[in-house]
Amino acid sequence: MPINAIVLAAGEGTRMKSRHPKVAHKLLDKPLVWWTVDAARKAGADRIIVVVGNGADEVRAIFANDADVECVEQTERLGTGHAVRCVRDAIGGFEGPTVVLYGDTPLVKPETIKSLVDETREHHNACTVLTMRPPNPTGYGRIKRADDGSVLAIVEHKDCTPEEQETLTECNSGMYCFCGGRLTANIDKIGTNNAQGEYYLTDMVDIFVGMGEPVNALLVEDYTQMLGVNSRFQLATAAKLMQLRINERLMDEGVTMLDPNQVWVGAEVTVGRDTELLPQTMLWGTTSVGEDCVIGPNTRLTNVQVADGTSVEETVGYDTVIESGVTVGPRAYLRPGTHLLEGSHVGTHVEIKNSTIGQGSKVPHLSYIGDTTMGSGVNIGAGSITCNYDGKHKSPTTIGNDVFIGSDTMMVAPVTIGDGALVGASSCITSDVPANALALERSRQQVIEGWAAERRKRMQEED
Ligand code: UD1
Ligand code: MG
Repeated sequence: MPINAIVLAAGEGTRMKSRHPKVAHKLLDKPLVWWTVDAARKAGADRIIVVVGNGADEVRAIFANDADVECVEQTERLGTGHAVRCVRDAIGGFEGPTVVLYGDTPLVKPETIKSLVDETREHHNACTVLTMRPPNPTGYGRIKRADDGSVLAIVEHKDCTPEEQETLTECNSGMYCFCGGRLTANIDKIGTNNAQGEYYLTDMVDIFVGMGEPVNALLVEDYTQMLGVNSRFQLATAAKLMQLRINERLMDEGVTMLDPNQVWVGAEVTVGRDTELLPQTMLWGTTSVGEDCVIGPNTRLTNVQVADGTSVEETVGYDTVIESGVTVGPRAYLRPGTHLLEGSHVGTHVEIKNSTIGQGSKVPHLSYIGDTTMGSGVNIGAGSITCNYDGKHKSPTTIGNDVFIGSDTMMVAPVTIGDGALVGASSCITSDVPANALALERSRQQVIEGWAAERRKRMQEED
């Protein structure tokens, strides 16, 4: 039987004080709700249904390219039971294990969801509730058990007697696995006779117990997996836990970190063995780093592919490919479309955009290279720039193999510099340079012997 997952994400998130829906706020490099959906997927869910409401379009957009995720809109927020009923109405019912999760609870682990499904299957439960014992149970629904320990009901905090609030310390995490068929058949039995006048999904427990259907609770020792995000402080708290979880996994896999509190690695990033991540490094998006690299300090790479044996120091990079043995930085800026071939070097205060730097070629200091194709063995002198933009159009620059560009050269594009050519320092190159030629564009130097000494003498006499 396929596994369904329903992710409740229609809530307002008033405490975020934001124009955006709570679940669209980023935790590391992904929206909050993405993490729950990812955990469901990794637990084996075949069909994932996200209940959207507040800021529905923004939440839908997060999953626009995910074929296994569909969104169902809950136009009125009448409670967790109502949210699941909206899904039933929209898709016509569930079959197979049906997990319910929250879009604002990003830390739940796939293995926890899996054990919830296994427990439900093994005992043919109508419902298995995931429970926890948090240090402060205030606000949570409480698990009420019979003398023999079997689960009787979930009583919301506000519906508990003062004594129950004290003594019932096992809490509802808000995550469940239902038998889809029995959930579909009985969800309409939920009413609104409670302190908040809402349709409580928690009432399904009471309903099933009354029908003699098997219901069970699965206690999770690590309550931090159930931490919900309601405020920006809680968002930061969850991000810290996720950061350390990811970093611990990477270190287990052979990555070195001087200080894992100062390294942030996104959900889908990969890092190879014996690579060192130095403080204040952020790796986001589809970034992948090979083996034996040194990344950081102070480096942010987004969608950057870094091959083995590469060093990237104090650098910001986007949508870039870095081949093996390349050295970058300190303080380089790699913009989309940059491709640094094997053994090349991009040095300090250098910006590269939409350009290929050839094998072993060097752009060591204070340069801008844009819309350029560069061959191998090239040396670009300090302060040299491709003038690729005339205020309206972008134009390409082509630099052949083994070209030497003197310092402070302006290459006014479109322009081609042939293989083995040499450009004298401080030239403004506006037309093509043939292979193996020297191009020099600067006025001839004047030398007046003794002029400076005479001036000094004149100035002393004036005093
Ligand atoms: C719920 C549980 C409570 C549990 C707690 C754990 C109920 C009645 N209570 O309480 O037993 O201890 O979670 O955190 O279920 N949502 C919708 N549509 C709605 C209502 C809620 O999508 O109409 C979503 C919210 O966006 C949120 C989640 O469901 O992500 C939980 O809703 P919330 O009202 O915060 O439930 P709690 O009061 O926390
Ligand atoms: Mg509530």
